[in-house]
Amino acid sequence: MKINDRLKKIGDLVESNSVCLDVGCDHALLDIYLVKQKKNIKAIASDIAEGPLEQAKNNIKRERLDGEIETRLGPGLTTYSDDINTIIISGMGGRSIIGICKDSPKVLKKVKTLILSPNNYQEDVKRYLCKNGFYIDNEQFVRDKRFIYQIIIFKKGKKKYNKKEYFFGPIFIKNKGPLFREYYEKEKKSREILLTLLPKNFRYKRYQTRKEIEMIKNEIED
Ligand SMILES: C[S@@+](CC[C@H](N)C(=O)[O-])C[C@H]1O[C@@H](n2cnc3c(N)ncnc32)[C@H](O)[C@@H]1O
Repeated sequence: MKINDRLKKIGDLVESNSVCLDVGCDHALLDIYLVKQKKNIKAIASDIAEGPLEQAKNNIKRERLDGEIETRLGPGLTTYSDDINTIIISGMGGRSIIGICKDSPKVLKKVKTLILSPNNYQEDVKRYLCKNGFYIDNEQFVRDKRFIYQIIIFKKGKKKYNKKEYFFGPIFIKNKGPLFREYYEKEKKSREILLTLLPKNFRYKRYQTRKEIEMIKNEIED
C-alpha cells in the first residue's frame, strides 16, 4: 500500500519495540507501514468515526495484518490502554490536538511519548504540553508534495523554553536545517497577507503579527 512522505516520515520516527496508539488513524496507512517495518512495533489504529475505521479495517485485512493491528472506535484518547507507550496524532489542527489532550489528563500523565504533527497552532501545542509534563525531544520537517509539515516528539520531563524557542521550535531554531528557511519564508508571507486583511481596530493582533514577521526576518535573513 502506498504511503505518502509525511506519514512515512512519522513512521520512521517511531522507536523499535513501541506500542502505538494512532489517534485519528483514518485509513490506517501509518499503522500498516509501522508493522511492516519489522521494528517490533505494535499498532492500535483508532478513530472517532465509523466510516474511516471501516476503511482502516478493510486495508488491514487486505494486507493480511488483522492479527497484528488492532482497531478501536472512540474519540481522542478514550481508546488508550495501559500497554501503550506512544501516542501519535497527525493531520489535525493544533487546537483539536490540544482539546484531545485536555480531555484525557490521566492518559497524558501515563504515556511516555507523543508524536504529533499539528497542521497549525504548533506554538500553542508546544506551550500546552510543556506546561503539562513534557519536553520537546525531537523536531523534524517533512516535505510532502507542495507542503512542508512539522513533526514534534514530546517525552516526559521538564525543560524551559523562551519565546523564540516556543515560536520556532527549540530544535528547529538550533539546527536550522534545509527546510527551515523555506517553511518560515512561507509563514512570513502568510502573516504579511494577514496584515493587509486585518481591520485597523484589531490593534493587538496587528502588533503581534508585525512582531512575528520581524522575528522571522531576523532568523531567516542572516
Ligand atoms: C485528516 S484525517 C488524518 C488522518 C491521518 N492521521 C493522517 O495524518 O493522514 C483526520 C482523522 O481523524 C479523525 N478524528 C477527528 N477528530 C478525532 C478525535 N477527536 N478522535 C479520534 N479521531 C478523530 C477523523 O475521523 C479522521 O479520520
